[in-house]
Amino acid sequence: MADLNLKTRYMGIELKNPIVVGSCNLVTDTDNLKKIEEAGAAAVVYKSLFEEQIQVESMQHDEEIEAHNEMHAEMTSMFPGIKHAGPEEHLLNLRKAKESIGIPVIASLNAVNKETWLEYAKKIEQTGVSAIEINLYNTPRDKDVSSSSIEKEQIELLVELKKSLKIPIAVKLSPFYANPLHVIAEMDKTGVDAFVLFNKLFQPELDIEKIQHVFPLNLSHPGDYNLSLRYAGLLHGNINANITANGGIYNGDEIVKLLLAGATNVQVVSAIYRHRYDVIKKMLFELESWMTRKGFSSIDEFRGKLSKANIKDPYAYKRSQYVDILMNSELYTKKYNQI
Ligand SMILES: Cc1cc2nc3c(=O)[nH]c(=O)nc-3n(C[C@H](O)[C@H](O)[C@H](O)COP(=O)(O)O)c2cc1C
Repeated sequence: MADLNLKTRYMGIELKNPIVVGSCNLVTDTDNLKKIEEAGAAAVVYKSLFEEQIQVESMQHDEEIEAHNEMHAEMTSMFPGIKHAGPEEHLLNLRKAKESIGIPVIASLNAVNKETWLEYAKKIEQTGVSAIEINLYNTPRDKDVSSSSIEKEQIELLVELKKSLKIPIAVKLSPFYANPLHVIAEMDKTGVDAFVLFNKLFQPELDIEKIQHVFPLNLSHPGDYNLSLRYAGLLHGNINANITANGGIYNGDEIVKLLLAGATNVQVVSAIYRHRYDVIKKMLFELESWMTRKGFSSIDEFRGKLSKANIKDPYAYKRSQYVDILMNSELYTKKYNQI
């Protein structure tokens, strides 16, 4: 397997292979970063800097703050220890992360206000990171805000960010637009460099014994990558930006599938939480084994082979395929009745 070329160009950055470790808490520790690099990952996305971290710090420094300011009350109760994780410390930690490993470090920003996005994206750029991920996490809460106004605002933000930054920009976004393909195509026109499919939207749960809300940080399940697989397949060849797939990727065969659909590369998080860093080595081995078995010597030879743009009969990407699966669910019912 010595002659295989796993090199992948992501947002103009050369990666030694297509495996990037996604944004999570593990990457804030230098020892973990070294283990990630040793295991063979090609790049790391650093933990996001959140608007709430920035606001809490600025509020703590603002003597004019009103005691009953609603936002302040909500944020300090949600993040009681937040003073140890302010934005200045985050920027310092980003620099340290970058210096501690040789593979590219991509930063991540999750803001709310336009001013915060622009100010902190610039500050993040100044740390010397290779790129920035713009984490568009919008939880619908207000029925009076229209989808089109949210989309317009997000696109305008990307236009501004693209004007002000020199480093490449990836956009990590939700799959819950009425037509994600249209939104992505419009965002693509702003010149952003990549799309991360998709944001994992952690939802609150209910504890029926305590009769209260709980907030689990659930890891993904194997198979969760299906949504990214479909959208990578639909987008490949139709947009200029690169496509990163993430969500429930647990082994090398699944990476092969996402590359065949048209992803430029993948991000993994949950697999590392469940199986530690060696899972990256195992994924690389499985990817290389498949390439050897199928006679491919580079990833470029097969990326997008099963995308909608590259197959003669795009049945898999049509409504009929969905209907077919559900019509054939009769078979499952028959099997079920026989048990
Ligand atoms: C513990 C944990 C922390 C995370 N923190 C972030 C974060 O700060 N920013 C972000 O964009 N995604 C964050 N994520 C989401 C991951 O980057 C990733 O998109 C998601 O977990 C899906 O990939 P996976 O199935 O491989 O876990 C986090 C995930 C986990 C499990």
